[in-house]
Amino acid sequence: MAATTQNDSQLSAVPSYEEQQSQARFDAIIDDDSRIEPRDWMPEAYRKTLTRQVSQHAHSEIIGMQPEANWITRAPSLKRKAILIAKVQDEAGHGLYLYSAAETLGTARDELNEQLLTGRAKYSSIFNYPARTWADMGAIGWLVDGAAIANQVPLCRASYGPYGRAMVRICKEESFHQRQGFEILLALSRGTEAQKKMAQDAINRFYEPSLMMFGPPDEQSPNSKQSMAWKIKRFSNDDLRQRFVGMIAEQVKVLGLTLPDPELRFDQESGKWIHKDLNWDEFMSVIKGGGPMNAHRMERRRAAHREGAWVREAAAAYANKQAQSEVA
Ligand SMILES: [Fe+2]
Ligand SMILES: [Fe+2]
Repeated sequence: MAATTQNDSQLSAVPSYEEQQSQARFDAIIDDDSRIEPRDWMPEAYRKTLTRQVSQHAHSEIIGMQPEANWITRAPSLKRKAILIAKVQDEAGHGLYLYSAAETLGTARDELNEQLLTGRAKYSSIFNYPARTWADMGAIGWLVDGAAIANQVPLCRASYGPYGRAMVRICKEESFHQRQGFEILLALSRGTEAQKKMAQDAINRFYEPSLMMFGPPDEQSPNSKQSMAWKIKRFSNDDLRQRFVGMIAEQVKVLGLTLPDPELRFDQESGKWIHKDLNWDEFMSVIKGGGPMNAHRMERRRAAHREGAWVREAAAAYANKQAQSEVA
């Protein structure tokens, strides 16, 4: 009897002929560098990984609006205010494309939103740092949006179609964001001593957190390997960090400012940039909710959700009315 039970359970673990065929089709699409679309069969683990990644990315765009929205009323000129409003609005748009892409994987947006509001879902740790001065708008644009681009350009070729396509448009806008940040810092660095100092201070505070945006070192990032095999991710965390640090090491010279990293240098022998050790304990603590702004960001997001209830109700009532008039 015991033997029969064991055989039964072994049998159920063996994939059926149809499952094997589906897996083979999926593997062929990945091997071919082609794209998986929502109607295609995909392994559950692939769906789950992507749902988590795309929704966390969407949450980061939405929470990421907060540090900069804080400065809209304090921008130093009408022109700066208009640019900042456009930038923050772009981030809302990024959130919307990404929630739509995540929904095509089968989880409703309400559920994804619920995961964020109840603290079950994470978002990028960088947004849990405060934006203290106007120069932070420059450092965030240059370093945070810059790191986002380095991370996201390869995602334009992600194997999941809706994600890759959303990234194409997002990257175009991120590139504008990075330039506007750089331009803010450039204006400050050419200004008074106090303005130059303010720009340097902002870079000093955002340098290390922006390098940590690529995630833990490769040897501590066990899921990366699978994501690369599925061609969601194209480069490892450390490779992306390398590209980014090399880029900003050059750009900072144009600003006439410095990166707060005396160890930073290009090592000819290994062909790699050497940078200081990053504070991964701090990173883990911020991820777990211990950053200076975690509680504030979540409180603000929950309040915005509550205050926006009437908009969602009105939109739903309007959609209903439209649908009824179409039937009539
Ligand atoms: Fe964005
Ligand atoms: Fe951005």
